Amino acid sequence: MTVSFVARGGARLAGRVRPPGDKSIAHRAVILASLAEGISRVEGLPDGEDVGRTLDAVAMLGAQVSTTRTSGERSLDAVITGGGGVLHEAGDVIYCGNSGTSMRLLSGMAAGFPWCTVLTGDQSLRERPMRRVAEPLRRMGACVDGRDHGGVPPLVIRGGDLVGVDEVPAVPSAQVKGAILLAGLRASGTTSVSEAVTTRRHMEELLELHGAGIACEALPGGGQVARVSPGVLGAAEVSVPGDPSQGAFWVAAGLLCRESSVTIVGTYQGRERAGYLRVLARMGARLEYEDGEPAGGARGRSVGASSGQGAEPAIVARTSRLVATEMAPREVPDCIDEIPLLAVVAAMAEGISRFSGLGELRVKESDRLAAIEDLLTVLGASAHVEGDDLVIAGRAGEPFEGGAVDARHDHRIAMAAAIAGLASTEGITVTGWESVATSYPGFADDLAVLARW
Ligand code: S3P
Repeated sequence: MTVSFVARGGARLAGRVRPPGDKSIAHRAVILASLAEGISRVEGLPDGEDVGRTLDAVAMLGAQVSTTRTSGERSLDAVITGGGGVLHEAGDVIYCGNSGTSMRLLSGMAAGFPWCTVLTGDQSLRERPMRRVAEPLRRMGACVDGRDHGGVPPLVIRGGDLVGVDEVPAVPSAQVKGAILLAGLRASGTTSVSEAVTTRRHMEELLELHGAGIACEALPGGGQVARVSPGVLGAAEVSVPGDPSQGAFWVAAGLLCRESSVTIVGTYQGRERAGYLRVLARMGARLEYEDGEPAGGARGRSVGASSGQGAEPAIVARTSRLVATEMAPREVPDCIDEIPLLAVVAAMAEGISRFSGLGELRVKESDRLAAIEDLLTVLGASAHVEGDDLVIAGRAGEPFEGGAVDARHDHRIAMAAAIAGLASTEGITVTGWESVATSYPGFADDLAVLARW
């Protein structure tokens, strides 16, 4: 069923918002808890469909999962009993829905076991590239097949008897890194992943929390090598911080809407997720950090033990006059999921922005380059794609026009379009709004509070 959402124009936003738990951290925390011996607890999982797929998948693989909804909050706490004594071959095909992170990370987990694991997903996921995980897992000794010889899902994996490898992925991808490190836990010898640009480090941080033999070495120029040794994981207690990629929508809304001030509370502070804040800062965004430290500082980490996390960070975003910017390819991994939203912000800025090296956006939940071009055209901004670059001529603070936009079954396009609609004269009708349920089912409720609708 297709659902439409109307984002009314001319919005003034005020107040505090707490985005849901971080999706990337949640998938990893659930998978590692299922591999760990004994009882792990994961607090603050987001209630979107994607993380639900990973919870269902590990349960099919034998982990004992019990979830409770935190009272008054749209988040889940999970108690997961995992480890060698409970895991087994899945009794059926594992359905990953729209979730690329589920499929790629579960591929790495499955490769460690001598079972047959079949992973499939919805129509969009069944078109997304999987050779980037299939090939390294094969080099480690797993049999990985699927449509187009393992190029696209469904994937069929029979693992076990793995040997460690030293991988240098061709595309910077935290999902690929995560899959290889998971397989490395059950391989003989050491497994390493070298990255010229360090992608989000949640797997490394959570592996450390579970007592894995993981060591990371920084490379000159911003890369790193992560090395994992085989071993048994211990149980852990994980508290999932808020999702900066969801908080980014409210940051942008605060900047673009007239006479607005929005405070975004409790999001993850790690540098590899804070690229969007650095881009916005140089565009002239009025951002303040309530805890006095810019997000992305050295302190940022994924997780804490369930208690004693100290003061919660908060970002205040206020209506701003913005100027165009240039984004270099090496900046892209740090804001890969925020590009549609940053494109909307650039469309309101003064001057011509160029975002370079966006080829990966073509293989996300939709072809996001094409979707952004269409969205910005509806908004009355001029945008075009040149090779892998996006060039945007901004409207110098002039409110967007309004209209109708199709989300293309892509949650981030749907939410970016809604934010643009708030800063338009006529408002925007987003069709395909149901896609938002994959990551942020409470988005419209949070917006209604901030906009006092
Ligand atoms: C994710 C990594 C990114 C991101 C995706 C989530 C993760 O994908 O776009 O939404 O949780 O590892 P890639 O690793 O493929 O760039």
